[in-house]
Amino acid sequence: MSGITDQIKERIDIVEFISAYVPLRKAGRSYVGFCPFHPNTRTPAFHVFPDTQSFHCFSCKASGTIFDFLMRREGLDFREALERLAQRAGVQLRPRTEAEEQLDRLRSRLLEVNAAAAAFFRHMLVKSQRGETARAYVAKRRIDDATSEAFLLGYAPDDWSLLLTYLTERRGFSPEEIEAAGLAIRHETRGYYDRFRNRLMFPIRNASGDIVAFGGRALEDVQPKYMNSPQTPIFDKGKVLYGLDLARDAIRQNDATVIVEGYIDVIIAHQYGFRNVVAPLGTALTADHVALVKKLSHRVYLALDADAAGVRATLKGLQALQSQPEGELTAVISPEGVIELQRRQDVEIRILTLPEGKDPDEVIQEDPDQWRAALAAARPAMDFYIEMLTSDLDLSSGRGKAEAVERIAPLLTQIAHPVEQAHYIQRLARLIDVEERYIFAALGSRARQEGRRRSPDQTRTGRVSAQPSAEATPQPGEAASSLPTQEEYLLGWLIRYPAARAAVEEKLHRDLTSYPALRSLMSGTVDELFTRDEIRALWRAWITAPAGSDPDMWATTLYAPLDAVARRVLGLHAPQPQAYRVVNDAMECATILQRDSAKRWLVQIARMQAETTSETERETLLDQLVQIKRFIDMLSIPRRSSAYIDLHALHGL
Ligand code: UTP
Ligand code: MN
Repeated sequence: MSGITDQIKERIDIVEFISAYVPLRKAGRSYVGFCPFHPNTRTPAFHVFPDTQSFHCFSCKASGTIFDFLMRREGLDFREALERLAQRAGVQLRPRTEAEEQLDRLRSRLLEVNAAAAAFFRHMLVKSQRGETARAYVAKRRIDDATSEAFLLGYAPDDWSLLLTYLTERRGFSPEEIEAAGLAIRHETRGYYDRFRNRLMFPIRNASGDIVAFGGRALEDVQPKYMNSPQTPIFDKGKVLYGLDLARDAIRQNDATVIVEGYIDVIIAHQYGFRNVVAPLGTALTADHVALVKKLSHRVYLALDADAAGVRATLKGLQALQSQPEGELTAVISPEGVIELQRRQDVEIRILTLPEGKDPDEVIQEDPDQWRAALAAARPAMDFYIEMLTSDLDLSSGRGKAEAVERIAPLLTQIAHPVEQAHYIQRLARLIDVEERYIFAALGSRARQEGRRRSPDQTRTGRVSAQPSAEATPQPGEAASSLPTQEEYLLGWLIRYPAARAAVEEKLHRDLTSYPALRSLMSGTVDELFTRDEIRALWRAWITAPAGSDPDMWATTLYAPLDAVARRVLGLHAPQPQAYRVVNDAMECATILQRDSAKRWLVQIARMQAETTSETERETLLDQLVQIKRFIDMLSIPRRSSAYIDLHALHGL
């Protein structure tokens, strides 16, 4: 089926398109350059393949089509990339639905309300007589004018309706809009009133610089000390990092992000030239936060409050990242402190500890070198965990040792690489002074328990949609008559059945472990299996949807053309009582797609091998060829019988 993305790809030449960003030189049938997605200047590992209209970096494994390239390079979502490329290609997109238009209008209206409010707050802080105490407070915190301006700090006066009056009477917004933006609250009998009063205001901007919300700090000793805008159609606090718009370039340049806890910490860090610093908004770090910074850098430093509560809170946040329930992102932590999310690109996480009771704000203001030293001394997350998780135990006692293993084992089982795992098992063994085999034994019994927990008869407790969507009929314009593809089947299963997803993700990862030479080609992720841009975009949208989302509800929040594809894909699989079947079938389908993907690589690598002039490169490519071949053979071993038929047969491929 030829979707809109295919039409676009036919009209835009990938080599020409990417050349505008990355200088490419011809090498055989493909083009080579320095990868724009990871810092490198020595080995040009970034290849563009005109034959398949795709790109691949043999070092960081970034890969995909012009859509993937544009999304990553410009930080766009699929819709935005689609709009841009459609325009460039001169392809007409389906007009947006009325509901989409309406939501768009509401969103831009709310952004306007926020922009107007920020200007009002700014004026109050800088110019107004009422702003006197706030100005004194800013001075007391030693925030200079340039920084105050860059962060657009403001002041919400001590009044119940000053902002409301300004926004309605002077700027023409309705009270309903102001409430929807989270700036006013509606009282049942007394009408609307300002949410933020007598607070220093921090406009919260998203990565593109739009003001999506506000944070407000009390000037006096009142509770709560900090207050944020509520969730709105433009603001989800789990998805925004304060300061990211200003930190973005520095994060890219340093290939490192520093995450601190507070607004003021970010502001002061920037004032002292540490520009790669951001903060969550008073929440634990979420997978979305990590995904956000992962796009920009490979290293993340977490600066924690040294007090026990602060450490525990952050630890909890990090653990949440690791033990994702089914249906959320999969995260793996390795000894280097590498958290691997979505199994795509690794992030190295380091923990930075500050002197007891001190914020980055104080540390930096006291002596910037002290901050530099703390950064340099930051430790891999895994080391930090082991220490934290055992600090309250008596490691000389039997009970203490058992407890230490009990606490650390879950982390150890998640280390994907066997050598790395062995390293930390050894370390733990030394720490508690027992032989390693006891730890292995403990890990083994855990793994078995896990296995039992994931047994098929329990998958029905997973989220399974209650209604087999009746409106699954393809929409006009979609390839209605064509048979569903393997990719569509697989995607449907993965979205509907968390157990199928867990099993498939685990399999993809595991299958690659014995093929080291394939590591520069494949990373064992689901999206590698999908060749259609829409399918890949849909998968990415799903894995970033809030955990526990209902698939059918979620599908209604999508925009064209993803909404139609989602309906089609979700309509393929009615909820099934026999969940084990689903897991088997999904695995089967994934295997077929794995094989397809490996075959594509076989062709590609064979070609490169024939064309290369470098002897060492030829060696490497030959190695890869041999392993791809073995990999394909391994995938072709017939598995236990299944109800699922190879769709290739159906399609006559
Ligand atoms: P802290 O209480 O550690 O304050 O909150 P801080 O950053 O040191 O602030 P100052 O220096 O006293 O001004 C850290 C972060 O937690 C969130 C805010 O985002 C704050 O920046 N927070 C804190 C809240 O959301 N609500 C609160 O009541 C307190
Ligand atoms: Mn502070």
